[in-house]
Amino acid sequence: MKIRVLRQINGDTEPYWETFDYDGDKEISVAGLLDYLNYHDDIVNDKGEKTGRIGWECSCLQGVCGACAMVINEKPSLACETFLKDLNGDEISIRPLRKFPVIHDLIVDRSIIHENLKKANVFIGEYNPKDREKLTLQYNAAKCLKCGLCLEICPNYTSGKSFFGAVFANDCYLVQKRNADKAKDIKETYGKHVGSGCSKALSCMDVCPMKIELIASMSALNR
Ligand code: FES
Repeated sequence: MKIRVLRQINGDTEPYWETFDYDGDKEISVAGLLDYLNYHDDIVNDKGEKTGRIGWECSCLQGVCGACAMVINEKPSLACETFLKDLNGDEISIRPLRKFPVIHDLIVDRSIIHENLKKANVFIGEYNPKDREKLTLQYNAAKCLKCGLCLEICPNYTSGKSFFGAVFANDCYLVQKRNADKAKDIKETYGKHVGSGCSKALSCMDVCPMKIELIASMSALNR
């Protein structure tokens, strides 16, 4: 297989594609593949040239931290949850999420996700659940990894603009449900940063690795 990786030394340099050969097991994940390529001290590209190890992030390697979010064959995906045997063709392209500044190779700076939540005061304070029957949707929303895949695929999200995207909407829902004192503020901030910018493309739901029912929580907020 040919593995094409969009590389970049840092945010001040130009990105470039580098290709690697791989003829091993197709049962492994893309995370496993990156580990495999990086394993040797002398990592070489498909031209036989020595090159540096590919920068990428991971923590859990089981789809629960969101650190390995990247774009694989043009689909925003988690590298540890994407297996070579499920990808078509003999060529795989891997690039960083483009909605975030690149730090190095496949590592991006996603701090804007938390900055937006902090800026808009969207976080959970004291929590005393009263209506336990409605907790299923809240539990579902609480599974968000903050991986950024929903922002990567969203046609309306651009970093630094007023629309903060699905990850923000999701936390608005949680905080509104769990913190009555903030409900009024949340209504305002949701309208400003989600309601007025979302075109209901709902591509976020196609790529969310936790299969969060964003449409259910957004419908509740819209109501
Ligand atoms: S390494 Fe944690 S989600 Fe992939």
